[in-house]
Amino acid sequence: MGLAKVSSFLIVLLFLINGGSSTTFTFINQCNYTVWPGLLSAAAPLTTTGFSLNTSESRVLSIPAAWSGRIWARTLCNQNATTGKFICVTGDCASSKIECSGAGAIPPATLAEFTLNGANNLDFYDVSLVDGYNLPMTIVPHGGAIEVGNCNATGCAADLNGICPEQLKVTVEAAGTTAVACKSACEAFGTPEYCCSGAFGTPDTCKPSEYSGFFKKACPTAYSYAYDDGTSTFTCSGADYVITFCPPSSAKKSESSFQQPEAVSVSAASSRLSFASSMSVLAVAVSWVGSGLW
Ligand SMILES: *[C@@H]1O[C@H](CO)[C@@H](O)[C@H](O)[C@H]1NC(C)=O
Ligand SMILES: *[C@@H]1O[C@H](CO)[C@@H](O)[C@H](O)[C@H]1NC(C)=O
Ligand SMILES: *[C@@H]1O[C@H](CO)[C@@H](O)[C@H](O)[C@H]1NC(C)=O
Ligand SMILES: *[C@@H]1O[C@H](CO)[C@@H](O)[C@H](O)[C@H]1NC(C)=O
Repeated sequence: MGLAKVSSFLIVLLFLINGGSSTTFTFINQCNYTVWPGLLSAAAPLTTTGFSLNTSESRVLSIPAAWSGRIWARTLCNQNATTGKFICVTGDCASSKIECSGAGAIPPATLAEFTLNGANNLDFYDVSLVDGYNLPMTIVPHGGAIEVGNCNATGCAADLNGICPEQLKVTVEAAGTTAVACKSACEAFGTPEYCCSGAFGTPDTCKPSEYSGFFKKACPTAYSYAYDDGTSTFTCSGADYVITFCPPSSAKKSESSFQQPEAVSVSAASSRLSFASSMSVLAVAVSWVGSGLW
C-alpha cells in the first residue's frame, strides 16, 4: 500500500470514527446584551464548552453525530479585576472561566437539551424550564427529513423575568431592582411535590402546579415540570439547529399537540450502538485495504 493510499485510508478512518456525519448548531444572540453560552456534553466532547456572543453576533459549531447534552446562556458576566475569576449573575457554571469545562449551569437557567441520533436514529430536543428560566431561547430545526418525527420549532420566546411570580423571582440590586431570572417551584420550595421526587416520582403522581402552569402558559412548547414530555419533546432526522437567544417574541410560536412518549435521555446505549456500527464499517474498510482494493 503506497503512502497516498495509507493517508487516504487514515482520512476515511477518522471520518468513520467520528461517526461519519455531523450536525451544525448555529447560535444567534438577539438579546440587546452579551450572553455567554455554556455547553455540557453527556456524550461526545465538543470543541468548546463556553464562549461569549455579543449582541447580533452568531457562531456555528459542528456537533458530533452522537452528541447529547445541554446548552444554556449565562448573563451579566464579568471578570473580577482582583481575583481574575469570571462570574455570571445567571447560568454561572462555577468554572471561574469562560469555558465551563464539564460543569453545568447553576439554576435558574433556560436549557436546550439534545440527544442526537438517539432511538430510531432520531434527534430528540427540547427547551426546558424545569431548572428555571433566565432568558428567552428557541430551537429551530432546518433541513430535517420531511414527515419524520415531530420536527418543529420549540422554546420559550417570552421574557418571563419581569412577570415571574414573586416567590420565584430572582433580582439584583443594580440601577434599581432588576429581575434577572425566575426559579422553578422545585428550586424555590424544594418539596417532593414540586420536584417530582419521592412519592411524586412518577408521571402519574407528579402533576402540573400553579407554578409550572405559569411557565406552560407563557411557553407552551417548553418543559414546565419534569413529566411534561407530551407537549415538550421534539424529534427530527438529519436536521441542523438554530439556537437563538432572545428571538423576536413577535415570531410565531409553534405549538405541539403530538404525543411523543419517548423521554429525552442521555443515551449511552445509542452511543455504544453507533460505535459498534462504526467498528463494523471499519472492519469492511480494513478488509478492502487487505484485498488491495485501496
Ligand atoms: C434592552 O431592551 C430593553 C427592553 O426593550 C430595554 O429596557 C433596555 O434598556 C435595553 N438595554 C440596552 C443595554 O440597550
Ligand atoms: C464583542 O464586544 C466587545 C466589547 O464591545 C469587543 O471588544 C469584542 O471585540 C466583540 N467581539 C466580537 C467577536 O465581535
Ligand atoms: C472581586 O472579588 C473581590 C474578592 O472576592 C470582591 O471583594 C470584589 O467585590 C469583587 N469585585 C467585583 C467588581 O465584583
Ligand atoms: C409540526 O410541524 C409540522 C410540519 O411542519 C406541522 O404540520 C405541524 O402542524 C406542526 N405541529 C404542531 C403541533 O405545531
